[in-house]
Amino acid sequence: MRITLRVIGIGPGNPRQITLQAIDAMADVDAFLVLDKGNDKQSLLALRHEILGRYAPEGHRVIEVVDPPRDRHPDDYDAEVRRWHAARAGLFADVLRAEVPDRGVAAFLVWGDPALYDSTLRIVDDIAEHTDLSVEVDVIPGVTSVSALTAAHAITANRIGEPVHITTGRRLAATPAGADTNQIVMLDGDLAFRRTADPDDHIWWGAYVGTDDEILISGTVSEVADEIARVREEARRRIGWIMDIYLVRKRSR
Ligand SMILES: C[S@@+](CC[C@H](N)C(=O)[O-])C[C@H]1O[C@@H](n2cnc3c(N)ncnc32)[C@H](O)[C@@H]1O
Repeated sequence: MRITLRVIGIGPGNPRQITLQAIDAMADVDAFLVLDKGNDKQSLLALRHEILGRYAPEGHRVIEVVDPPRDRHPDDYDAEVRRWHAARAGLFADVLRAEVPDRGVAAFLVWGDPALYDSTLRIVDDIAEHTDLSVEVDVIPGVTSVSALTAAHAITANRIGEPVHITTGRRLAATPAGADTNQIVMLDGDLAFRRTADPDDHIWWGAYVGTDDEILISGTVSEVADEIARVREEARRRIGWIMDIYLVRKRSR
């Protein structure tokens, strides 16, 4: 059986930050697949449904696939990850065989852009590798949370000719010397810049960027670090979850 798996970037939360290419790509989809990892925020799922309601054709089909269970503390970590990837690919293949016609199209909606900190393209590769489906992969780029952040603050990611390093909160402390001029930090549960940045570094922080709940703060680390921590915690309590990103920049040397 041949199938097209279309991975569509839908932007970082504002339903108007979706491209015309993404909207066109929803037109001939036989089924939209949603992977329920059990930890997705309800409002993120709701936004996916809102986007489908606005832009996908009337009567479109959405199929939720629940992530198979995984042993988080196995004796052989690599073997367990391989087993789990194969199990997940098998599960998707079963759904695809049952729900999508031969030569049909199934689509995944991906937050932001599929190339940045997202596992969907890895799942798609696993389906192609571990099952007997003949898979064609089609990727539609999306606005990233990085561009949403820099646009919201009306800044460039780098000064003239400088490099930009994109990393996670967990890896921030491991940025090599010289690569820390402009750092964009995602997936940071506890504002790791407070342990790595210099007091006179400049930070541009944003939460829920592009959405009605957007919060933006900027200034030197010494001026705004405490304010960001306080505002972040207040928002997390009020809304029930938080999604934030920041750019931290060294002073010109
Ligand atoms: C799993 S990654 C997905 C990134 C996505 N593929 C992209 O292109 O932006 C999730 C992280 O993206 C960032 N993020 C995504 N949307 C955001 C938004 N609207 N506002 C602030 N941060 C956002 C946060 O750092 C969050 O922890």
